[in-house]
Amino acid sequence: MRTRQLGPFTVSAIGLGAMPLSSGHNTRPDRDQAIATVHAALDAGVTFIDTADIYAPSWDTMGHNEAIVAAALRSYGGDTSGVIVGTKGGITRGEGETWGRDGSPQYIRRALEASMRALDTEVIDLYQWHRPDRWRAYHEVIETFKTLQEEGKVRAVGISNANVEEIEVAIEVLGEGGLASVQNEFSPRFRSSRDELELCGEHGIAFLPWSPLGGTGAHSKEVGRTFPVFHEIGRDRGVSPQRVVLAWELSLGEHVIPIPGASRPESITDSAQAADLDLTDDERARIEAQFR
Ligand SMILES: NC(=O)c1ccc[n+]([C@@H]2O[C@H](COP(=O)([O-])OP(=O)(O)OC[C@H]3O[C@@H](n4cnc5c(N)ncnc54)[C@H](OP(=O)(O)O)[C@@H]3O)[C@@H](O)[C@H]2O)c1
Repeated sequence: MRTRQLGPFTVSAIGLGAMPLSSGHNTRPDRDQAIATVHAALDAGVTFIDTADIYAPSWDTMGHNEAIVAAALRSYGGDTSGVIVGTKGGITRGEGETWGRDGSPQYIRRALEASMRALDTEVIDLYQWHRPDRWRAYHEVIETFKTLQEEGKVRAVGISNANVEEIEVAIEVLGEGGLASVQNEFSPRFRSSRDELELCGEHGIAFLPWSPLGGTGAHSKEVGRTFPVFHEIGRDRGVSPQRVVLAWELSLGEHVIPIPGASRPESITDSAQAADLDLTDDERARIEAQFR
């Protein structure tokens, strides 16, 4: 699998989004299938896995997804020492399924420690601030992440759901080269984070499109019907429309690392092969023309 740079790490150009292994109405796989899906990703050469503390069936099972990822890495037959796991903190879930944000130093520290326990590690490879806490100054929360990195609890810092101004603040606090990644929604149906994608390219920051196929459920399955150009190119190349979508995202910059979700081994096995699908200039132009 081709590789790309994610902060200090060299990782596969396609990552695994682990969220569907723990959430989804009636679609959550059983534990064996969840572990098999992670193993299929590793078999396909995936060396970056994205998870989060809140990816869990319920508020009182937070850490569920992180624990599955850790169990799958432990039970994999091959060498996993080069696999980078990114997790996230900053969104709260409470009794009665109440959701919130908390960027306080106390909460972020507690969340990080819980993620370390769930991931069964003493240092988190990539710790991402999941979503801004609008009650706090952005730079103050980034300073907390910087402190955790300086303490050696976190190897690299990322942010998620950030706009251009917030990315600039994070660069200011962490220094040029100090922000490893920005994880924002980006797909054929959600293209409004293109400015952030381009800004990241200018600063050598990895851009991780989340829900890169449009999200779980019908959006990802029907992407070739909603946007026929992906179906047409896929048909001509003998590959799935999903693979063409991911190849298009990869073609937007060397810093783009899509993290397609999967709850079945077949999905990630197929998606991973997008790393080796080079689109022609004509194919890329046809895709861009569809969005005009
Ligand atoms: N930072 C954030 O705020 C945020 C928010 C949402 C998501 N995320 C991250 O982004 C990751 C990806 O997003 P997502 O899971 O919401 O949506 P997605 O990647 O756009 O779509 C996932 C769905 O696509 C299907 N799929 C994947 N590859 C396929 C293929 N080659 N052919 C056919 N179907 C395919 C999967 O089907 P099966 O289930 O049948 O395998 C899965 O249901 C998440 O797992 C999570 O790690 C982050």
